[in-house]
Amino acid sequence: MAEAGSWADRVKQQADIVRVVSDYVRLKKSGQNFLGLCPFHSEKTPSFAVHPVRQIYHCFGCGVGGDVFQFVMELEKCSFPEAVRLVAEKCGIPVPKPRPRSPQEKREQSTRATLMDMHREAAAYFARQMAETVEGQAAQAYLEDRGLDRATIEQFGLGYAPASGDALYRHLKARFPDNLLEASGLFARTEGGRLYDRFRRRIMFPIANESGRVIAFGGRALGDELPKYLNSPETSIYSKSHVLYHLDRAKQAIRQQDFAILVEGYLDAIAVARAGCANVVASCGTSLAEAQLKLLGRFTRRVVVNYDPDAAGQAATERSILLLLEQGFEVRVLELPRVGGRHADPDLFIREQGAAAYQAALGAAPAFIEYLIQRTRAQAGALQGPEAKLRVLNYLMPYVQRIPSRLLRSEWATRMASELRIEEPVLREALRRAAAERRSQVQTRPELLAAGPKPAERRLIQMLGEAEEFRQKLAQAIAVAELHHGLVTEKIFAALLPACLAGCAPDPNQAAAALGEEDRRTLFGILFEPAAPPSWEEAESCLGVLRRRKIEAELASVQQAIESNPPEEELRALLTRKQRLRQQLASGEADQSF
Ligand code: UTP
Ligand code: MN
Repeated sequence: MAEAGSWADRVKQQADIVRVVSDYVRLKKSGQNFLGLCPFHSEKTPSFAVHPVRQIYHCFGCGVGGDVFQFVMELEKCSFPEAVRLVAEKCGIPVPKPRPRSPQEKREQSTRATLMDMHREAAAYFARQMAETVEGQAAQAYLEDRGLDRATIEQFGLGYAPASGDALYRHLKARFPDNLLEASGLFARTEGGRLYDRFRRRIMFPIANESGRVIAFGGRALGDELPKYLNSPETSIYSKSHVLYHLDRAKQAIRQQDFAILVEGYLDAIAVARAGCANVVASCGTSLAEAQLKLLGRFTRRVVVNYDPDAAGQAATERSILLLLEQGFEVRVLELPRVGGRHADPDLFIREQGAAAYQAALGAAPAFIEYLIQRTRAQAGALQGPEAKLRVLNYLMPYVQRIPSRLLRSEWATRMASELRIEEPVLREALRRAAAERRSQVQTRPELLAAGPKPAERRLIQMLGEAEEFRQKLAQAIAVAELHHGLVTEKIFAALLPACLAGCAPDPNQAAAALGEEDRRTLFGILFEPAAPPSWEEAESCLGVLRRRKIEAELASVQQAIESNPPEEELRALLTRKQRLRQQLASGEADQSF
């Protein structure tokens, strides 16, 4: 809140909310108000209003509203003091000098300012070396060979550090004292105490802070020299765990699209940005750090992890997923397909397959759970057998356990169950309970996981294929009550039902085309099982089994809801529902068609 008489209050008096909002939203005058499309929810007709006299905004669609500071805090995801400062700057209100600082603070402040000047100067110097020298031509040729043209080199400020040991030093020494040159991390000292260039014969990637000022460099060797990348050391302006490469250029796109793509390398970030996805950042030369995520979290809470698909990248992906989940991010994983048998990092993939292919793969990137399950599948083969499933469940639990929201944890538990084709109510219950209690192990009897299709399911699938006389009636009985929902064979039923409902015999090949490998195999296995001629009586009894299981599943979820401490009124409804379901089971109601 802006306290009366405070600086914030004075800014609020002087600021014009219409002008500030106009930086973000196209406003049109409408009566005494201004109207525009709400930046806080997506809409096609304007319901976002700004009141110039009262200096407030309000969205009639999503209900947000407040004063100019709230608007900036919400949109920039910043703190109150930052919002006040931003508004002041936007409205040309002079920012008061910060409280008098100690001489030491002043010294540190001025050192940092000098180091930033030095870095700007160094970046310009490297860029000139790239553009104007013979050595630089070779560096350019190398980059061109990797698909980076002149314009891209300029756009990303890439430069070249010459091979001579002290070119940069000679360039800067007249303007900066040795002690500051040394503090910049751009130089090292010989045994004899002379300063020399840290970066030699390298392509230089300027690393900028969030507001676009160069604070460090990553330098790539021209050939196979080691290390491949040499990075600036920690300095008073650069802490690598607090910086994300390309964030300064990405932040607007990240906010607009409400997600960020996370890659490993400088060249990956550049390639992805050039492929039309400006919302990309790289963690760069360090494993992802919590501070980097706090920074990113100001712009979005959704991330697609797109690391190299080699062993190191996969390990880094798993680690990053844990960290991201812990920080409350929604995580998807893009694992690019191999290109010509080779592992493809984003850079290589885009060069070989093009921007459209990358964007398509990005759009299809699965949620982290699906990615992790695919990975275990690749390692352990098909997830058959109860022990294998329990192992996978327990491998996944620590991830789910990190999710801060109880509700989301429970949703992910359900998703895990369906991905793994687990349908036993008892097991789902155990899984949900482990998730809710943030336990990393599911406690259950493995035999419950022996979840191949049950005899009743198998028989019904056969009958849909063979029962000429009552196929349509049977299909209706299943479809109307959605009896196949939640079964391991759900997808198989879904593929067969449309034809059956239309009164035709289903075509197994056509159905198989809509199914994954595992389901296809199950379907064909069932169709090849020898069986007696179908009868409606037998069909009825199989339907009864499914109805029972549906009731049991609902019972388990009602029970779960009851235990989650719902408000009084809801609890009463749940208990009634539970009683009713119990009665249905006891009375054998499920066994009759209705
Ligand atoms: P990679 O080895 O995957 O490099 O390292 P890259 O980005 O694909 O580069 P090219 O295509 O081989 O030229 C990924 C990132 O890890 C950091 C760098 O930030 C690099 O971009 N790294 C790598 C280092 O800091 N030091 C190294 O020696 C290697
Ligand atoms: Mn790489």
